Amino acid sequence: MNAVKVGLLGLGTVGGGTATVMLRNADEIQRRLGRPVEISHVAGLGIADQTILDASKVKLTEDAFEVVTDPEIDIVVELIGGYTLAKELVMKAIENGKHVVTANKALIATHGQEIMQAAMAKGVNVAYEASVAGGIPIIKAVREGLAANQIEWIAGIINGTGNFILTEMRDKGRGFDDVLKEAQQLGYAEADPTFDVEGIDAAHKLTILASLAFGIELQFDKCYTEGISKITTEDVTYAGELGYRIKHLGITRKTDKGIEMRVHPTLIPEKRLIANVDGVMNAVLVYGDAVGPTLYYGAGAGAEPTASAVVADIIDTVRSFDEDADSKVPLMGFKPDAMVDTPILAIEEVETAAYLRMTALDKPGVLAEVSEVFAKHNISIEAVVQHEPAEGVDRVHLVMVTQKDIEKNLDNAIAEVEGFDEIDGKVVRIRLEHLG
Ligand code: HSE
Repeated sequence: MNAVKVGLLGLGTVGGGTATVMLRNADEIQRRLGRPVEISHVAGLGIADQTILDASKVKLTEDAFEVVTDPEIDIVVELIGGYTLAKELVMKAIENGKHVVTANKALIATHGQEIMQAAMAKGVNVAYEASVAGGIPIIKAVREGLAANQIEWIAGIINGTGNFILTEMRDKGRGFDDVLKEAQQLGYAEADPTFDVEGIDAAHKLTILASLAFGIELQFDKCYTEGISKITTEDVTYAGELGYRIKHLGITRKTDKGIEMRVHPTLIPEKRLIANVDGVMNAVLVYGDAVGPTLYYGAGAGAEPTASAVVADIIDTVRSFDEDADSKVPLMGFKPDAMVDTPILAIEEVETAAYLRMTALDKPGVLAEVSEVFAKHNISIEAVVQHEPAEGVDRVHLVMVTQKDIEKNLDNAIAEVEGFDEIDGKVVRIRLEHLG
């Protein structure tokens, strides 16, 4: 059988990993498919200097449009990232009848609807396993493996860079900037690392998971997004004293009022498996009504782990060549005419528990005054810890853990407490989830 021809856009960290894995495992891939798969056209900047591919067998170019218009190419693999050029190339590839494999979560989360529609109209596949949690086959698990279930919620550590930073801060007391620099050197961080630390990358991934879990449209603009850049080592330590770890989680949950979609730092009990996922590793906890909790763990970034998902998508795409449209797995898991428009809840309407830290004047009655505010707003306090003041200082850290309540109640209580003369500055609030 003829070889399947792959056109690769981008030969950076993931592109290089993809070429390496495809070359190293070519025989194994052929055994799975019954035909060879070859990279035959590659676009990238400075491509002449690459050492992975045999330039006598592969066409190399700096113009990615040459690849998506090459009549020989069956599958275009988009690994250049970003929104604008990537979208143009993917749409052009689809227009030319090519299947697309992409690792680009930003592209799928923001333009996925349009891309999927174009692909369905043209009868080609769009595969995006590598866009969420790197090497973990979480898209396949949610879309196919758990298809019998009504998914109730998903909570995931879906940004390796953020998890690496929080882990190093907790274990080694290292500074934020120093760890971020190392993540960039290791090729984990996005081209713009604020996407990692401010939660945008995780929000892209969560948007995709929410759509697959609940059969809703991709709605990145409705995802509540808060990063880890304001987490201090003090909060990491205090959380530890209370039996919790701080993780940057993406959470999506179906409730009677609507769907929650939120990315933020979160205290989780240290005894949960997911609390012990450290370094650049990712983990996604999925709760289905039939199966209960299931946990998926693995490398969420890096050249070969991400390539593992990209190459699996190439294999899946080749397997789908002969399937008719009706028997294909729907690109977003549900039949396009069965998507629902369940509202996404604004964060003020979401119910959460919280860790609160405030700096208070060390004098009798302050704690009672603060507690009274929470009682007035009907918010139950689960724990209170007052930390010893440093010598010669008349300020203490008051740490509280509240029980679950609607966020706008807590917002009002916090605003009132911040108005007290005895409380300095802002109250630090980190959401807390038991994930039971
Ligand atoms: N920057 C991402 C991360 C890479 O750190 O998880 C994988 O999407």
